[in-house]
Amino acid sequence: MKNLLTTEDLGRETLERLLDLSDEFVEVLDREIPKVPPLRGLTVATLFFEPSTRTRISFERAAKALSADVMSFSPGTSSLKKGESLKDTALTLRAMGADIMVVRHRAVGAPWRVAEWVDVPVVNGGDGAHQHPTQALLDALTIRRHFGKLDGLEIGIVGDIRHSRVARSDVYAFSTLGAKVTLIAPRTLLPRDLDGWPCTATGDLDDVIERLDVIYLLRVQTERGGATAFPSWPEYVSRFGLSRERFARLADGAVVMHPGPMNRGVEIAPEVADSDRALVLDQVRLGVAARMAVLFTLATGRGLTREVTA
Ligand code: NCD
Repeated sequence: MKNLLTTEDLGRETLERLLDLSDEFVEVLDREIPKVPPLRGLTVATLFFEPSTRTRISFERAAKALSADVMSFSPGTSSLKKGESLKDTALTLRAMGADIMVVRHRAVGAPWRVAEWVDVPVVNGGDGAHQHPTQALLDALTIRRHFGKLDGLEIGIVGDIRHSRVARSDVYAFSTLGAKVTLIAPRTLLPRDLDGWPCTATGDLDDVIERLDVIYLLRVQTERGGATAFPSWPEYVSRFGLSRERFARLADGAVVMHPGPMNRGVEIAPEVADSDRALVLDQVRLGVAARMAVLFTLATGRGLTREVTA
């Protein structure tokens, strides 16, 4: 693996190798001193052109747990304000010694462009409404650690699928690992064309809720126009929100997931978000290990770890 840009082309073997490695890093993070040396001497740069709480901090924590140094770029205080391009920003960070770059950008495809410009591994930390592969990896890890496998599980992804890079990445990863995925959303929040998506779709949550093993909720992406796709918020909440009443209809053993940030009272009732069947904080916790697995795999793939340990 040279870069990690999308889950669309990840085969089952690669995904399982990354998940196995993540399990090992979960064990490292549980130690009294949660740190190992393989990325010593390397620098991971995070280039986040869009807001982020979890993803950026999680990558930085992962890099540090592998003993890498971290360089962090944010547009608010940078020369972007002076018109500097994505290309010059990436080349500048590379020239300062970035060995791995994590890129989040509002433009679809931006991390692929960066990967053409720099000679180091690039991780897609989220490009527009397109892909967010490490989220899919941590989601698959959370599900696999809870259920033991994804094979045969029924996973429903509910909400603004059209504008969600999380949904796009999850659908491919979950189905490659053997789960049956159903997208649940109003027609206007489903992708225009579902050709090639390895899943089915419905507009009726109540029709399918009882057969789900995992209900994965998404925020309405208001910044990408999501809220213009339905008549009113109360109407959206009543049809697609996981209320207490709907939560009570879930099968025994079914779990609730959400990538964050959650809008409590919209896609998820506060009591549901706080219930012990919501795995939201497990997702966050396991995200660090999943990102360690990605950084480690990319560094070894390019021979970077061998160089520093030699
Ligand atoms: C998501 C994102 O930024 O794509 N959050 C995340 O990375 N955990 C989802 C969102 O913003 O709704």
